[in-house]
Amino acid sequence: MLDSIHIKNAFCILPDQRTGRLCETEVDLFISNGRIQTIGKTAPPVEPEQVIDARGLHVLPGVVDTQVHFREPGMTQKEDLETGSRAALLGGVTGFFEMPNTKPPTTTRELFNQKLAAAQGRCFTDYAFFIGGAHENINELSELEQMPYCSGVKIFVGSSTGSLLVDDDASIEKILRSGKRRVIFHSEDEMILRQRQNIVNTSKDVRQHHIWRNVESAVSSTVRILNLARKTGRPVHILHVTTSEEMDLLAQAKDIATCEVLPQHLTLSAPECYERLGTLAQQNPPIREKSHQDRLWKAIQDGTVDIIGSDHAPHTLEEKRREYPNTPSGVPGVQTLLPIMLNHVHHGRLSIFRLVELLCEAPRKVFGLNYTGRIEVGAKANLTIVDLKTPRTIENKWIESRCGWTPFDGMKVIGWPIHVILGGKWALRDGEIKHPPMGQPMEFLT
Ligand code: DOR
Repeated sequence: MLDSIHIKNAFCILPDQRTGRLCETEVDLFISNGRIQTIGKTAPPVEPEQVIDARGLHVLPGVVDTQVHFREPGMTQKEDLETGSRAALLGGVTGFFEMPNTKPPTTTRELFNQKLAAAQGRCFTDYAFFIGGAHENINELSELEQMPYCSGVKIFVGSSTGSLLVDDDASIEKILRSGKRRVIFHSEDEMILRQRQNIVNTSKDVRQHHIWRNVESAVSSTVRILNLARKTGRPVHILHVTTSEEMDLLAQAKDIATCEVLPQHLTLSAPECYERLGTLAQQNPPIREKSHQDRLWKAIQDGTVDIIGSDHAPHTLEEKRREYPNTPSGVPGVQTLLPIMLNHVHHGRLSIFRLVELLCEAPRKVFGLNYTGRIEVGAKANLTIVDLKTPRTIENKWIESRCGWTPFDGMKVIGWPIHVILGGKWALRDGEIKHPPMGQPMEFLT
């Protein structure tokens, strides 16, 4: 039997057979031919090739990071598909959705197919790619979003790394009227950002990053997107929400909008992060004060937040050491997404069940990924096996991303990825990659 694995004695997070709600159960899993074949305390139907004694560990469905920037093509001094996906696997991630703000930006069928071709045989996890919405491709987006392995259309309403930008209502409305899948937005108001840029041009002080990119710049943009979503009836997804005010709006817009928050915004806060980390904490939208962070946590608990992604946005230390504001915005995060969130589970900020909803099940719910993110018989055997109890320290030397640093260097956490099963094969063993890249492109239902 091909690559059969028996995972014994683990606590699995899976749906209760009666209620369908997630529960923790000590069961064994038998995996073969890339799928979960049996769940229970029964002997495997055939002699397994490999046995994992996972006593004391927890088995989660495979974690999917739905927002990463792997910089290929054009910025491979920061990252590429191979280094980025290696980092993902070490962090317990089994799949990623990659963003289109590469050089050139991914805005045509040809460039999209080139990315797919570049990914083949080089990715350590499964993968899918967003297509960028731009003025030049508005009329083709309804076809482009249907390409196999495309996770949807991404629009930058405020400019960040790269040249992608669609900031006028007429063009955004046109995009929303062509096509049917959920459109995802980087939501910051470009006009407000330009008007206020002199604040940081004059002071050159990164502690003012969140004062320049103020609450109004985020709220005004999200209000515009929600209004256009309602006007056109098109579902939207707001990435990396940072303000209390946006969460209040999004809580009332569940019929039309889903949203994401990042571990950075849930863990670091201003002004402390800028004082301690300088430009290593600089990202867009910015890390804000504790009062906003508290509101994000409330939104995690009350169900307003649909998904947690990392927004892995690596830049080299050399680039980050320039004088602010000539420094690029963005911080790496694909490898620390799960350890940081497991640490929050340990400290009681969210349950392990809510974590599974946000990191494993949500990609299906929000983007129509053809992967349930649930441990059930017949499901694709992508599994993330974690230790919830042993203390570890996140260190730069553990980071596999080409940029080689993390804003969480030195942070003590409890909760760590130990093994990963990818397509029924043992991809990460005791925290080490023992297998050449075997990631596959991921399909969508819509
Ligand atoms: O700070 C950021 N940097 N935010 C984004 O959304 C994009 C990113 C990047 O690509 O560097």
